[in-house]
Amino acid sequence: MILTVVNFKGGCAKTTSARCISDYLALQGANVLSVDLDSSGNLTQSFGIDIPSKGAGEAIGSEGNADKYIITGQPSLLPSGIKLREYEAMFATQPMSFKKLKKLLSQLSYDYIVVDCPPNLGSLTTMALYACDRFVVPLEPEHFAVNGLAKLLDYAKEVIEEDRFLGAFATRYNEKERGVLRKQLFELAGDRLSGQVFKTVIRRNIALAESQSLGESIYTYSPDSNGAKDYASLTNEILNQI
Ligand SMILES: Nc1ncnc2c1ncn2[C@@H]1O[C@H](COP(=O)(O)OP(=O)(O)OP(=O)(O)O)[C@@H](O)[C@H]1O
Ligand SMILES: [Mg+2]
Repeated sequence: MILTVVNFKGGCAKTTSARCISDYLALQGANVLSVDLDSSGNLTQSFGIDIPSKGAGEAIGSEGNADKYIITGQPSLLPSGIKLREYEAMFATQPMSFKKLKKLLSQLSYDYIVVDCPPNLGSLTTMALYACDRFVVPLEPEHFAVNGLAKLLDYAKEVIEEDRFLGAFATRYNEKERGVLRKQLFELAGDRLSGQVFKTVIRRNIALAESQSLGESIYTYSPDSNGAKDYASLTNEILNQI
């Protein structure tokens, strides 16, 4: 099962969500691979790992032995690499490159593969959409984010020609701050998306940012935090729907 976490908008918690969903699945005993497709390498760094010289770009480019680049753990990680940005530009010039990631990942045997995307609709995001069984969209509850979602879903339809959208969820949610407006916007998104909004809302929680900067799982760093609880609840909702 390949789950892609995607949104072309920056800073809406794609990486945090990919990491926490991976961690929770691994905590349940699943064999999980996290894939860092962002050349900024934030997901890799959230594992406390420096961006290696070779990683996802080389693995996808060679369509071969991903194991060579995977850092084994629970979850395991296919890290970003220092040349990933160059690979992203190169793949963009190759018409059939969007199939490469699917081919690579299909050779691996994990219970779950969770893919983190860069904040754009470039070649790596396109690959991640094409490769996935399902994709989820983290959303900051703001008006333009809801509008952007429609654009993202249109793009996904072009790439995969079938509906693999599992749902959107609110991240970095602060009930006190413009709470009513945000709530209304989510109701609007829910209408527009015919209910494809997860019930779980990821609240703002400093422990999430702290655990990432320490390269630790939220489930070891602060298992009782709201962040740990919210991502457990979200992942259970995802599991119930697949
Ligand atoms: N629920 C939350 N509570 C508090 N801080 C959060 C939460 N979710 C994410 N953050 C923080 O917000 C910042 C952006 O999150 P993250 O890196 O996951 O977003 P992103 O969508 O991957 O960004 P980019 O588009 O740059 O890749 C990070 O510093 C992260 O630690
Ligand atoms: Mg990110």
